[in-house]
Amino acid sequence: MDAVILETQDLCKYFDGLKAVDKVSLQVRQGQIFGLIGPNGAGKTTFQNCVAGTFPPTAGKVLFKGRDITGAKAHTCCHMGLARTYQIVRSFPQMTALENVTVGAVFSYRRHHRHPERHAAEMLDFVEFPADHRTPAANLNTMQLKRLELARALAGGCEFLFLDEVAAGLTPAELGDITDLIRRIRGRGISILIVEHLMKLIMNVCDRIAVLNFGVKIADGTPATITSDEAVCEAYLGAQAKLH
Ligand SMILES: Nc1ncnc2c1ncn2[C@@H]1O[C@H](COP(=O)(O)OP(=O)(O)O)[C@@H](O)[C@H]1O
Ligand SMILES: [Mg+2]
Repeated sequence: MDAVILETQDLCKYFDGLKAVDKVSLQVRQGQIFGLIGPNGAGKTTFQNCVAGTFPPTAGKVLFKGRDITGAKAHTCCHMGLARTYQIVRSFPQMTALENVTVGAVFSYRRHHRHPERHAAEMLDFVEFPADHRTPAANLNTMQLKRLELARALAGGCEFLFLDEVAAGLTPAELGDITDLIRRIRGRGISILIVEHLMKLIMNVCDRIAVLNFGVKIADGTPATITSDEAVCEAYLGAQAKLH
């Protein structure tokens, strides 16, 4: 079995009295596409924020490539090869698509690119960026921005990628394209943790899935075991019209 690349041990994040993430332990293996699902407010984004350094967890541990990175700042996580995309895409609006991705290449943790702009252009091609590279980010639509964000993360040379609701707002055709792209990103040896509401996408691409409910992990297994899990169906899947 492949080595564990990311592990959390009893990870907790409390906001005043609210247990947004409550003793969540999980392991993502090298090259895996790992899905994190659960109803709105279950703690999925908070979990990512704690792991990727947006804010420190209240308790528990985060191990990345065997190193304890609990409480490490976002830029430290990034330099170790842990990249993320955001539920609400962030970009530098006045800069062109190419310049946005070049920022990722310049801050690449893995190696110094002699031609960061060339590398950025390659990454835009890899994600099949559908517009002119010189388009200002402010003029891009949702799908284009999502691809831009992925290209920027890849240009940074990440080994692990968090995707938060990357398929939200996409058309069925775009959904097929993004599914293919997620697989191709894994094909580059990058492990992925994907937070997503669209069960079709999750069941299609994930090797393993964990389910959160009120901050607690209620199940963890293959897509087949998750769909037949009673607690999961009760908490979440039963209410999902888009299961099949
Ligand atoms: N910065 C914050 N301050 C206070 N409460 C928060 C904060 N971020 C998230 N929460 C609360 O934590 C819970 C989990 O939220 P979130 O992680 O965004 O859920 P999900 O991404 O699964 O929809 C929710 O009840 C939310 O209101
Ligand atoms: Mg969220």
